[in-house]
Amino acid sequence: MTTTEPATSWPEGATARAVVDLGAIRHNVRTLAEKAPTAQVMAVVKSDAYGHGLLRVADAALDAGASWLGVAQLNEALELRAGLDATGLRPPILTWLFAPGAPLSRALAADLDLSASAPWAVQEIAAAAREAGRTARVHLKVDTGMGRGGARPEAFGELLDAAARARAEGAVDVVGIWSHLARADEPDHPATSEQTAVFTAALDQAARRGIQPQVRHLGQSAGTLFHPDTHFDLVRPGISVYGLTPAVAAGSSAELGLRPAMRLEARLTLVKAAPAGTPVSYGHTARTTTDTTLAVVPLGYSDGLPRIASDAGPVSVRGRRLHVTGRICMDQSVVDLGAEGADVREGDVAVVFGDGSDGGPTADDWAAASGTISYEIVSRLGGRVPRVYVDPERDQ
Ligand SMILES: Cc1ncc(COP(=O)(O)O)c(C=O)c1O
Repeated sequence: MTTTEPATSWPEGATARAVVDLGAIRHNVRTLAEKAPTAQVMAVVKSDAYGHGLLRVADAALDAGASWLGVAQLNEALELRAGLDATGLRPPILTWLFAPGAPLSRALAADLDLSASAPWAVQEIAAAAREAGRTARVHLKVDTGMGRGGARPEAFGELLDAAARARAEGAVDVVGIWSHLARADEPDHPATSEQTAVFTAALDQAARRGIQPQVRHLGQSAGTLFHPDTHFDLVRPGISVYGLTPAVAAGSSAELGLRPAMRLEARLTLVKAAPAGTPVSYGHTARTTTDTTLAVVPLGYSDGLPRIASDAGPVSVRGRRLHVTGRICMDQSVVDLGAEGADVREGDVAVVFGDGSDGGPTADDWAAASGTISYEIVSRLGGRVPRVYVDPERDQ
């Protein structure tokens, strides 16, 4: 469910909502473009735009100057293309994960750019192109040190040969050569410059075979922010588009000039007095230590709150920073409001995470409480939490 509503309104019947600030998305895209002035920006909007909502984010990112969009899976790309067509926008869209036998004819009909990491992929793309009587747009991926997608450097020649053959018959156009960085979030680690050197060698190898792509691309958010040498023609930021830092140790969102776009909040469904010694939630892992007030927050692990953050995940109520007490359940969590909780009422808003500007919790705080990264916190936000879009800059 998606709506554009004032920040004060709640979707009917909803006890929780994720408020996404489209102005923050635009600000972040502009900030990233300034960090990489010589490159185009591909906003990475996979996994429902890291939980923020595919089409609304894509639209805002394009509006702010992103000229490409990237998603992992073919079906995401098809959904994105169809959604954007309805608005008249037609940017290049790159998708990079498909298995043999994928419906590539649909990808070509939707003008998607496809990644190939191995000769079989080039061959399947070329076969689909031949059948459709068109030229497919391909990005050849080289594994410069991530050890995941891409042809290993010693196998990149075979991939180039397969692409050169398909190109000679007009079945493919090699639009891009690309790779992905493994340790760009550690700004001083030598792995990034080593990967950049391998990438440059792969580009030279391609050029010797007469393959000179329009776009060479390597850097994600951390590359964009911390490693100018990785910018080449195009950068592919994801997490930073949403205003979250790719590396807490290297700089907070605010230090990097980013504005977290999502605020997750819920209306308390129950507030009740409880005596000292009251056990709380499954397993009785927590017990109140004083006479206190307990509040039920209607969000749980099926909404994306990591259960491992039981007894720890931060929540703010009436501007007071508290934390989840006891185990996080499937749909609910409990907060011990303490002595000052007597004023709190059912229906009051608990902020689970937001931009932190008021001292409230952030997605990074939840990541720290869960031993993970903010990427997992936002992208796992459950489908039943309605996303509500606000645009304070435009609504003024
Ligand atoms: C191939 C590729 N490029 C770019 C990104 C964006 O990365 P980040 O969110 O760290 O900016 C991702 C996401 O993991 C990715 O898989």
